Amino acid sequence: MPHNDHWRAYRKQFHSAFRPRELEVLRPLILGALDQFLHCLATTPDQFSAHIRSYTSNVLSTFVYGFQQSVDTADPILTLMNANIEEFNEKVWDNVCLVDLLPISKRVPPNWPGAAFMRLGLGQRRKMDEVVQGMYDRLRAAMTEGKATSCVVTRSLEHRVSTGELSSAEEELIKRNAAVSFIAGTDTTNSALFNIFLAMSMHPEHQTRAQAELDLVTGGTRLPEFGDKPSLPFIEALVLESLRWHPPAPMGGPSSSCSRGWSVIIGNIGGMLHDPSYFENPKEFNPNRFLASQGRRREDLELLVMDVFGLGRRICPGRHLASDSIWITIAQTLSSFTVRKALDADGNEADPPVQFTAGLTSHPIPFRCHILPGDNALKSGHDEARGL
Ligand code: HEM
Repeated sequence: MPHNDHWRAYRKQFHSAFRPRELEVLRPLILGALDQFLHCLATTPDQFSAHIRSYTSNVLSTFVYGFQQSVDTADPILTLMNANIEEFNEKVWDNVCLVDLLPISKRVPPNWPGAAFMRLGLGQRRKMDEVVQGMYDRLRAAMTEGKATSCVVTRSLEHRVSTGELSSAEEELIKRNAAVSFIAGTDTTNSALFNIFLAMSMHPEHQTRAQAELDLVTGGTRLPEFGDKPSLPFIEALVLESLRWHPPAPMGGPSSSCSRGWSVIIGNIGGMLHDPSYFENPKEFNPNRFLASQGRRREDLELLVMDVFGLGRRICPGRHLASDSIWITIAQTLSSFTVRKALDADGNEADPPVQFTAGLTSHPIPFRCHILPGDNALKSGHDEARGL
């Protein structure tokens, strides 16, 4: 997208929708989805991968559109969106790179031999349009019936609809940005949570330290809350290290240069966050690197890790939401459960594979882990975890 008025309106809309002040008002929506996630984890811990996926799409869909999918039935639009993201990462991303590097290739007629990449891209666009329209129509119908929950889209629309100031261009922008946020936020947050579960299963020593910190703050009698954040520096360090260890979008988004014609710039975020001159033994998962002596934080390194959200004008507008939602998820999960390596047929702990998929977003390849309920699983009302 060129750097013009349309681009400025696009970014402005994102920023007003996801600035920290908005986020605070909408935090209860994250907590509602998290409660359901902890409940699912307590009931069927072996299905943790499916639970993480539906949790992240729930956080984004409640936050952006005000609705959450039910635990029992698969939502057709969310299912289509997840399938699209998978197809994008597996098949479309390489072609996007080709079209960025060789822009003329996007003029190839889709019915030409060898133009399978065009057919794939057009198919993706059609299916994504279905998601964009489907989610938006659903919310507008709920608004008309007076049943909509306050969320990013209702907050962007409310004032303009009531004063009759909503132009069709504005409506289109709100609709598209909602869908882009929903899609961009789901898979990246997914990846960050999978990284933490994987790292926790491999590093009981860090997990024990995190749980001791949590117990000290909550007294082991309640779940941690957003207000506890300043007292939980090790949880913050865990989140930062998981983002650094394996960035969810290791190459960011390709951007075109304003000053150099059609040059495309791809930031090597993964490379920067594994630079040994800043991060010693970069392949090692070590949250302690973010803590200086006497529990003080290494704000210099924290700042560097923020590159995980991209650079410059295209920086991720959802970074505050991502940081908040990942932090509270990890704090409440480790307060309620312990994540261990899965057991093999002989009952011994088996090392998980530590490999990551390629694509615009990258995740650990599927792995199993053993999730054990702790005392807070009971205190937080997740009684099934204790067989009660
Ligand atoms: C751990 C979680 C996340 C990571 C690592 C991440 C990372 C990124 C990166 C690297 C970019 C490209 C920036 C660039 O081109 O320089 C990006 C763009 C974007 N992200 Fe995120 N993101 C995350 C979560 C979210 C969430 C929760 C949202 C929801 C609001 C979101 C919405 C977006 C949008 C809308 C863009 C495109 C911005 C544009 O086109 O200008 N992201 N993100």
